[in-house]
Amino acid sequence: MQPLTGFRDFYPEDYAIRHHVFSTWRVVAARYGFVEYDGPPLEPLELYTKKSGDEIVGQLYNFIDKGERAVTLRAEMTPTFARMVAVRHREFRKPMKWFSIPQVFRYERPQKGRLREHFQFNADIVGESGTGADAEIIALLIDVLRALGLTAQDVVIRLSDRQFWIDFLKANDVPEARWYEVFQAIDKAEREPREKTAEKLGSLAEKVFQILDHGSTNERLDTIKADLTARGLGDFVKIDLSIVRGLAYYTGVVFEAFDRSGQFRAIAGGGRYDDLIQKVSATKFDDAGKPLDGIELASIGFGLGDVVLGEMLKAKQLLPAKYTASDVFIVVADEGFRKQALALLQDLRTAGLRVDLSLAPAKMGKQFELAEERGATKAVVVDGKIASGVVAVKNLATREQSDEMIGDLIAKLK
Ligand code: HAM
Repeated sequence: MQPLTGFRDFYPEDYAIRHHVFSTWRVVAARYGFVEYDGPPLEPLELYTKKSGDEIVGQLYNFIDKGERAVTLRAEMTPTFARMVAVRHREFRKPMKWFSIPQVFRYERPQKGRLREHFQFNADIVGESGTGADAEIIALLIDVLRALGLTAQDVVIRLSDRQFWIDFLKANDVPEARWYEVFQAIDKAEREPREKTAEKLGSLAEKVFQILDHGSTNERLDTIKADLTARGLGDFVKIDLSIVRGLAYYTGVVFEAFDRSGQFRAIAGGGRYDDLIQKVSATKFDDAGKPLDGIELASIGFGLGDVVLGEMLKAKQLLPAKYTASDVFIVVADEGFRKQALALLQDLRTAGLRVDLSLAPAKMGKQFELAEERGATKAVVVDGKIASGVVAVKNLATREQSDEMIGDLIAKLK
C-alpha cells in the first residue's frame, strides 16, 4: 500500500503546497523575463554518461527498453536543456532566459532532504558570458526564495569559482584527468573528516586547506557581489571558495544556497557550463575527448529542488496554513429548489467563483458541515425566497446572515 522508497504520494493537502511553491517559481521567473519549456522524462543513457560525471551516473534509473535502447529517466534537466538549445539555438535571440519544473529521478539513499524523485526549478541563461548573467541568475534564485518568505537571515548563497580552482590546479601541474577527482574531494571537504580529504588530495592537501581556511581574492566574484548589492540583495551572498559542485560540466562561477542554521542539505545549486552545449552538439573530438566542432554557447543556471525547500518552509511556518477546495457553498433548503440551485451554481462558477454544493439530498446541517470541511467562507441558502429572486448569504466565520438579490450576488461574493 506504500509507494516505492524515496517516492511520494501527493494527497490534496500536499499537492496544495506543491502548487503554492510551483506558482511562486513561475510568477518570479516571469518577473525576470524567463520563459517555460519542458523536455522528455526519458532520455538516451548516453546523454548522461558523457556529460554529467560519475556521481550522478551512479544514481541513474537506467534500463534497456523493448527496442534494445539504453535509456534513463532524467536525473537532472541540464543535459536535456543543452541538447534542446543545441538543436534550435539559431531561432532564439541571445541571451535566452528559460526555465522548467521537471520531475527528476536519482537512485540515492533516501534521507532527510534527499529522495529518489524530486521536482526541480531549473533556470538558465544562454549566450551571455559576462558577470551580468551570473548576477541575474543568482538574483532570480534569491527572489524566488524571498517570494516564499525567506530572508537573508534564513538563507545564504555561497558563491565560488571553479575557474579559480582550475587555475590553481594548472599552477600546481595537476594533469586535467585528475581535476574532477580533486573537485569532488573539495566539494565533500565540509562533510568529511579532514584526514579523509587530505588522503584524497595527496600533495595538494596543505595548499587547498590554506585556501579553504583563509580564502583568496577573486575579482570576478567581487563584481558579481557588487551587482547583487546594487540590487539590494548583497546580504544574501557570501563568497566561499569551498563550493566547487559535484557535477562535471561546470567551468566557472558556481554557487549553492543553504539555510544559515546549517540544519538542512543544499537548497539549490548551479553554475556556469560554457562547454556543455558544444560537447552535446559536437560530432568530432580529438584524442583527449575535446570537441573539434559544435556550437559554443556560454551558459549559466541553477536547480532548486522542492524537497529541502519544503522542509525549510515547513520548519519556518511559511507554508499556507490551510488549503481550501471552495469559497462558496450552495445549501439547498429543500430538494424542490435543486433546479434553481443548479442554475445559480452554474452562474457563479461561470463568473469564476469556486463554488460547490451537495451532490445528493442531505439535511441542511450536513450541508453546512460539508461547506466548512471544503473551506468555504460563505454559504448561499436557496429556499422559498428564490421565487422572488432572493437568497440568504451566510458568513460561515461570523455566522452573520443577510438576504441578497440574485442580480447582486456575484459582485457581493467577489
Ligand atoms: P544539483 O546540485 O545536482 O544540480 O541539484 C540541484 C538541487 O536539487 C539540490 O540543491 C537539491 O535541492 C535538489 N536535489 C538534488 N538531488 C536531490 C534528491 N535526491 N532529493 C531531493 N532533492 C534533490 C543540478 O541538478 C544541476 N543540473 C542544476 C543546474 C541547472 N546547473 C545549471 N543549470
